Amino acid sequence: MKYGLPQKFNDLYNKEATYAYFSPGRVNLIGEHIDYNGGLVMPCAITFGTYLLLTPNEDGIFRFRSLNFNDTANIPLQNGYQKIGDGWSNFPLGIIDHFSKDGHQLKGLDMLFYGDIPIGAGLSSSASIEMVTAFALNDIFNAGYSLLDLVKIGKAVENNFIGMNCGIMDQFAVAFGEKNKAIVLNCDTLDYEMVNSNLGKYVLVIINTNKSRKLTESKYNERVQECRVALKTLQKELDINYLCDIDAFTFKQYKHLITDETVRKRAKHVIEENDRVKLAADALANNNLPEFGRLMYASHNSLRDLYEVSGPELDTIVEYAKTNAGVAGARMTGAGFGGCAIALVKQDEFENFSLELNTYYTDKIGYAPSVYQSLIGNGVGSEMVSSEL
Ligand code: GLA
Repeated sequence: MKYGLPQKFNDLYNKEATYAYFSPGRVNLIGEHIDYNGGLVMPCAITFGTYLLLTPNEDGIFRFRSLNFNDTANIPLQNGYQKIGDGWSNFPLGIIDHFSKDGHQLKGLDMLFYGDIPIGAGLSSSASIEMVTAFALNDIFNAGYSLLDLVKIGKAVENNFIGMNCGIMDQFAVAFGEKNKAIVLNCDTLDYEMVNSNLGKYVLVIINTNKSRKLTESKYNERVQECRVALKTLQKELDINYLCDIDAFTFKQYKHLITDETVRKRAKHVIEENDRVKLAADALANNNLPEFGRLMYASHNSLRDLYEVSGPELDTIVEYAKTNAGVAGARMTGAGFGGCAIALVKQDEFENFSLELNTYYTDKIGYAPSVYQSLIGNGVGSEMVSSEL
């Protein structure tokens, strides 16, 4: 028995759960703040994520319960729904809203969510809960969406219902992830390639700063806006749709057009980071982990100095990683402003890395990080309602 979820569903609703689903979270290996600029990203799904157990009901009520949060919601079937406060149930509610506005006949649902993913830590717990709900509704109500449609619905909900102007990377990664593979995704065309992520003697390590991120949404939207300004300025002379339509060489020739220094720095990060993803994809395909690690460090520096979305907690982790010869590379992952960093660490160095980092970080920051060895797992799907859950 993993978490005893079927029994917990039973205790809560006094009946059996008839369906179960799981959606992972994700880490982004490289290509940060690129998706909304139409470039390349390289995320992968992880084995932590969100479970959803549910049973349709005849009383026309959506009942939202989670083992992670005390707050609950009971919302009657209607034609459309509004975001209610800042509670977690807005993510599944936004998905329900989308299905209902698309004209699908829904029924009430008794739902139980449980996430074993650190929540609000930059591992896409929100995309995970959105996609598990979207997948479940599509399945139960035969809505007929493709997996890519569900990804687009998740992003639309995040943009329009939640108010976060995110790109498509997170929803795509948690939907399309495959065990031991990284996704190289072109966020403009949505063409993608699965790359074998043979890490050799290295393991992927996730380090949670354990810093709570309150300003994420507003700072994130500010960066999105700065990129829009940079693009508009470059479009005066260049025929492009996205910042990532040019490379670092072309940017050098046109960067003088952007007079605002902050905006210029943002654009420089985006364009150079996009170039780095191409190099990183080659490095991974050739099992060149030292080169991949070098690019991870370069990515982190750029996010720290040019894009300014890092912070003392994330920087401290990367700073420590550089002192450890068993580490190929490390960087912040996700939106930044706290959240998680990732590192490629030699398997037999993991224990030592974890202990040393703990001391180094705690001395500097005042509290401990959480360090996990992470596996690359599969995307969203249905599960048997069984004692395995
Ligand atoms: C968050 C967003 C993504 C992406 C990353 C930064 O995770 O949801 O769309 O922009 O930040 O790369």
